[in-house]
Amino acid sequence: MWVYLNGQILKEDEARISPLDRGFTFGDGVYEVIPCYNNRLFLFEEHLKRLKASLELTFIPLTDEIKNLDKILLELQKKNKFLNQSFYIQVTRGVDEVRAHAVEKKMQPTVLVTSQELQKNPYRIDPNQEGIKVRLEEDIRWHRCDIKTIALLGNTLPINNPNKPKVDEIIFHKDGIINEGSKSNVFIFHKGKVLTPSLDQNILPGITRGYLIKEMRNNGIDVHEIEISMEKFLAAEEVWMTSSTKEVQPVSKIDEYTLPSKNLEDSIWYKVLKLI
Ligand code: PDD
Repeated sequence: MWVYLNGQILKEDEARISPLDRGFTFGDGVYEVIPCYNNRLFLFEEHLKRLKASLELTFIPLTDEIKNLDKILLELQKKNKFLNQSFYIQVTRGVDEVRAHAVEKKMQPTVLVTSQELQKNPYRIDPNQEGIKVRLEEDIRWHRCDIKTIALLGNTLPINNPNKPKVDEIIFHKDGIINEGSKSNVFIFHKGKVLTPSLDQNILPGITRGYLIKEMRNNGIDVHEIEISMEKFLAAEEVWMTSSTKEVQPVSKIDEYTLPSKNLEDSIWYKVLKLI
């Protein structure tokens, strides 16, 4: 596997990052995930815009390499040769001389780009198979989930709890309101309308979410960005999750509750998947 690190394309095992990199010591950095299908980057400009927003909100300077990110991705794509791949771009504030919260002098951000093969969405191969299993968890994350930070313990902890049954995704709720998944956004179909939590809530402005809302509206599907109460969520006819690596995936089980089954031709999630 080839990676890009601070100006160089290297073999993964030749890439070296200092133990005093603030990404390692503080989780002080941001990231972006950009999918590439059939050798073509998907929604690159939208992802780049969100990466720039994450950098600005965390006061990490925009380096030249971010300005030329498309060229780096293209070069890596040729080297890694996967037809479908997802690029992870991680930018940290840089390397400290001694571990200290406050940054004492101007730092050069660390920029790492890796790629991995992107598996085809299994629901494209067999849309009739059982949906994913999710678990509801209280949202204990920080209040700036709009920033795509590399500090993801709040997201990764619940799914790795060895005392809870294994699930595919966690759905976070706070004060009886649904927020988002630990690595995806959530949509429901309820009483003839598609609903998804609004960006005023503490969630990531998912690129797939934004793209699909626009496409649904262009295709006459009624979609509302609105608070979803737990009651409404559990009364939904359909629930599905969206992200850059999973596209659209239906949910079949929420904790112990199994959603009612529905014909594929009548399923909204399947119409929505075909909009990508
Ligand atoms: N996760 N919400 C959270 C918390 C996420 O981590 C993600 C993406 C999304 C969906 O965003 P997008 O449509 O832009 O991928 C929503 C990525 C895929 C990841 O961390 O690997």
